Amino acid sequence: MTSAPVALISGASRGIGLAIASKLASQGWVLSLGMRTPVMPAFAEPARTHLERYDAAEGGEAEWVEHALARFGRIDAIVANAGIMIPKSVIDAEDEDLDAMFAVNVKAPRRLVKAAFEPLAATGRGRVIILASLSGKRVKSSDSGLYAMTKFAAVALSHGIRQSGYHLGIRATAVCPGFVGTDMARAITDRPEETMTRPEELADVVAMLIGLSNTASVAEFAVSCALEESY
Ligand SMILES: NC(=O)c1ccc[n+]([C@@H]2O[C@H](COP(=O)([O-])OP(=O)(O)OC[C@H]3O[C@@H](n4cnc5c(N)ncnc54)[C@H](OP(=O)(O)O)[C@@H]3O)[C@@H](O)[C@H]2O)c1
Repeated sequence: MTSAPVALISGASRGIGLAIASKLASQGWVLSLGMRTPVMPAFAEPARTHLERYDAAEGGEAEWVEHALARFGRIDAIVANAGIMIPKSVIDAEDEDLDAMFAVNVKAPRRLVKAAFEPLAATGRGRVIILASLSGKRVKSSDSGLYAMTKFAAVALSHGIRQSGYHLGIRATAVCPGFVGTDMARAITDRPEETMTRPEELADVVAMLIGLSNTASVAEFAVSCALEESY
């Protein structure tokens, strides 16, 4: 078993997931990265980095956990980051749109944490980060309505994990950002990139949350790049 803590991160190929992987690696974490197209990141040390071919829409979480355990012998943190955004209103969308987003944004993270629950508990201080969204806290626009349905569910998932794992030392946090400068945000807003939260700032937040002790539980962490009524 490796002596360093091990984190599984989904959607680590780019954007927020890649930034979190880079940050945790710089802090000495060993990584297991779930990617649709596995590519070793430039910053990563191959001896300390496991790549898993992982498509959240297809499943395979139990196998991923099995492979990570076989390689490193422990799992200390899950960062469920992979997500998709279909910008449609609840009126215009079809069931297929909702099914596609629920599959990646809600059902896959639940399966991943379920598969890793025992090893997380075995550490006595397992950590789970669910990359939700401010769209999991409020519905800002018509076109974010369908996405918000899935992100409200992602926030609920995080709370459910928190309730189920607390007595085992597992702490779960729903991280809820507004616009972050990644491909996802660039595709849906004309807002200048320099006015958005940077992925590296999100990575700092996640590293801080994961590093807190069992007596500093954070259920939700909202980060906004703009002034809103409550965020
Ligand atoms: N950017 C924002 O403004 C913002 C705001 C709030 C919340 N979020 C949330 O933050 C998370 C990361 O978003 P991001 O901004 O980094 O998005 P992004 O730049 O679009 O990157 C999405 C990541 O998720 C992966 N992914 C998508 N579908 C997948 C699937 N079926 N299986 C496995 N991986 C998949 C992508 O992999 P590929 O490279 O293979 O496509 C990529 O690594 C998401 O959950 C998103 O909803 C983002």
